Amino acid sequence: MSAKETIYKRRATRAFLDKAIPKEELMEVLETTNRTPSWTNSQPWEVFVVSGEKLKNLKKIWQQEISKYTAETMPFNKMDIQFPGYDSWGNAPQAIENMVGFKEKFAKDTGLSQEEFMKIVMESNANFFNAPTIVYLGMKKDLGPYSMFDLGAYQQTLMLAAEDKGLQTCPAGAFVILGDILRRELNIPEDISMALGIAMGYEDKDHLLNKRGPMQRMKIEQYVRIIE
Ligand SMILES: Cc1cc2nc3c(=O)[nH]c(=O)nc-3n(C[C@H](O)[C@H](O)[C@H](O)COP(=O)(O)O)c2cc1C
Repeated sequence: MSAKETIYKRRATRAFLDKAIPKEELMEVLETTNRTPSWTNSQPWEVFVVSGEKLKNLKKIWQQEISKYTAETMPFNKMDIQFPGYDSWGNAPQAIENMVGFKEKFAKDTGLSQEEFMKIVMESNANFFNAPTIVYLGMKKDLGPYSMFDLGAYQQTLMLAAEDKGLQTCPAGAFVILGDILRRELNIPEDISMALGIAMGYEDKDHLLNKRGPMQRMKIEQYVRIIE
């Protein structure tokens, strides 16, 4: 596949088959991702790849813990790296429109109401989308926001390297809402902030959540200023 084909083929996959990723394939994806660029080549990422029995156990504990909360009571304010609150988007109305459009499009493509859609998405997030492997990304707590660029670049390189090998992915902030549980269960050092989890595996093509067209993007004219 050309880079362009891989970029267009990747999309957030929210249901996976019960099929393990062969170790060699996984290692090849990680080797390719190792070429990710970073600020002054700092390579600040901390990567935890979880699968097998360890992931099964983690999922059980995670579901117990996450089920203590509703969408309204979820402790987002305790996240190591917090989601932007809706009130912080005041100056970015287009971003709000895009987020609303995401839910509307998803609901339309799957034939679900937005409420049903949110419920199923929350349940599948708590179930790690049934993925056989989760790649968690973190970085040392003292690092500033600039290093998040590098983690973002790592995330995208990983997803494209996986897609190139016939593996699908979904990045999920929802997988790190309870950072302390991850540190405890996966023996992650206290000085690491958990930024994101990336589900990886083989897409369940028949699952409702995967039955959707590509998510819309803005027209480039809406945000690119060509200055010449
Ligand atoms: C940093 C980041 C965090 C995300 N967190 C979640 C998440 O917690 N749950 C989820 O279902 N999707 C999550 N997504 C997936 C986005 O919703 C998805 O990438 C976006 O709607 C565009 O769709 P596409 O990836 O299919 O093009 C996340 C994506 C990114 C880049």
